[in-house]
Amino acid sequence: MAKRVAILLSGGGSNMVALARSMEGDHPARPCLVMANSAQAGGLKRAADMGIETDFVDHRPFEGDRAAFEDALHARLMRAAPDIVCLAGFMRVLTEGFVARWQGRMINIHPSLLPKYRGLNTHARALEAGDGEAGCTVHEVTPALDDGPILGQARVPVLQGDTPQDLAARVLAAEHALYPAVLRRFAAGDRRPVWMPEAD
Ligand code: GRF
Repeated sequence: MAKRVAILLSGGGSNMVALARSMEGDHPARPCLVMANSAQAGGLKRAADMGIETDFVDHRPFEGDRAAFEDALHARLMRAAPDIVCLAGFMRVLTEGFVARWQGRMINIHPSLLPKYRGLNTHARALEAGDGEAGCTVHEVTPALDDGPILGQARVPVLQGDTPQDLAARVLAAEHALYPAVLRRFAAGDRRPVWMPEAD
């Protein structure tokens, strides 16, 4: 039986589209739900247009009570009974309690070569540091922010004169290749990291 994958997002959902498109044919998983923390997240419409069930829990009424927001999120997720949860640009920090409920079944993509540049503004920070390369990481989600066992990394060059936007676009293209490759492996029960380009 195909694994059921729920995708959580806050934004436009280009990673969600890459993941959803990849789950066809002999892929061991299928999308069961795309969920956002706002009705306005552009990714919800894109998912609905692809025929995927969508839902959202607006975090704003829960301000100051993250646990209550997560209880609502968890309850809605459970309706779809996912085997795997993919965070794809989901911009809410998750508490230890929520993470524990999904530990070993929840993965995230982060736009840096972790452990470098956890948190926000990763591209500007990489440029400021004068890094020669940048990239993205898919990792299992553990209670610490942007931490957890690494399931894959894709590297891209930093080019002379790059702005943070230039670098973000180059990294985003790498995200669209990396995340589906990692999900395919992870859904098959294989947690060996994916390296892009492949290590020698
Ligand atoms: C990606 O860069 C992801 O790594 C970051 O948020 C962005 C989401 O983009 N956490 P999209 O919504 O998938 O287009």
